[in-house]
Amino acid sequence: MTLPSRMFNGVEYFRRPQIYHTKKDANEAAKWWKDEGYKVRIIRSSHKNGKIIAWYQWLMRIENMRILIACEFSGIVRDAFAKRGHDAWSCDLLDTERPGQHIKGNVLDILDDGWDMMVAHPPCQHLCVSGARWWAEKQADGRQQAAIEFFIALMEADIPKIAAENPPGILTKAYRPPDQYIQPYWFGDEAQKKTGLWLKNLPKLVPTNIVDRGKIWVQKNGRKRGAAWTMCLPPSPDRWKIRSRTFEGIAEAMAEQWGGKIDSE
Ligand SMILES: C[S@@+](CC[C@H](N)C(=O)[O-])C[C@H]1O[C@@H](n2cnc3c(N)ncnc32)[C@H](O)[C@@H]1O
Repeated sequence: MTLPSRMFNGVEYFRRPQIYHTKKDANEAAKWWKDEGYKVRIIRSSHKNGKIIAWYQWLMRIENMRILIACEFSGIVRDAFAKRGHDAWSCDLLDTERPGQHIKGNVLDILDDGWDMMVAHPPCQHLCVSGARWWAEKQADGRQQAAIEFFIALMEADIPKIAAENPPGILTKAYRPPDQYIQPYWFGDEAQKKTGLWLKNLPKLVPTNIVDRGKIWVQKNGRKRGAAWTMCLPPSPDRWKIRSRTFEGIAEAMAEQWGGKIDSE
């Protein structure tokens, strides 16, 4: 049976056929569904002469996964999964910027702690093509190899579903090409930052809201080019943090599209 569906905060819920005549009854029934692992929204939907006569339950099946957001200080991806009911934890060498479940330390030490999914944001400064002029030096002193090995250790972790992101760079040759490249402006943020996603048992992200590419950069010869968002930031001590925070639109898309099955019955 296909149930009527409706979007709440970008997530599709399905309506149960039962009608409740009081909100109390609907709430009572909701308790049972919540214990069964559903997220329940109760919506009043019929009126007669200004009087509410029925309440409906809208259900979303939650798999309630235990999710590790590796190398994240911002809490942005963690919170996108957490608000959909998952047991999501960020991990970084730094403190979390906003309150939430966070493990401060080396992520390699907690990869075997029983996660269902990992979304990883490993450092890119020794890997990305925008720093290619320093590659010879970083290859000579081993920094690039260490960064490659860190990335591969994350991808090869014994976790059923894995996504790791990084900008275009040496990983394509040293490891393998990403499964897809994405852009923030595909997900509602007016900015360009080409980002590769390496995926294990997760589908490619589908654009949710394609908007303007953001700032235009006019070259000396007058030619206009879309400027990468990272180039538009003024120097500041926090510049690397601003540049590396995940865009909210991408975080929402990850949580919506990877955050578990939505059940139609
Ligand atoms: C490119 S930033 C990613 C930031 C992320 N997108 C966010 O929104 O917070 C890389 C992060 O990896 C962290 N990191 C580096 N090595 C790590 C390790 N071994 N364990 C945990 N975090 C690590 C750094 O502290 C840095 O915050």
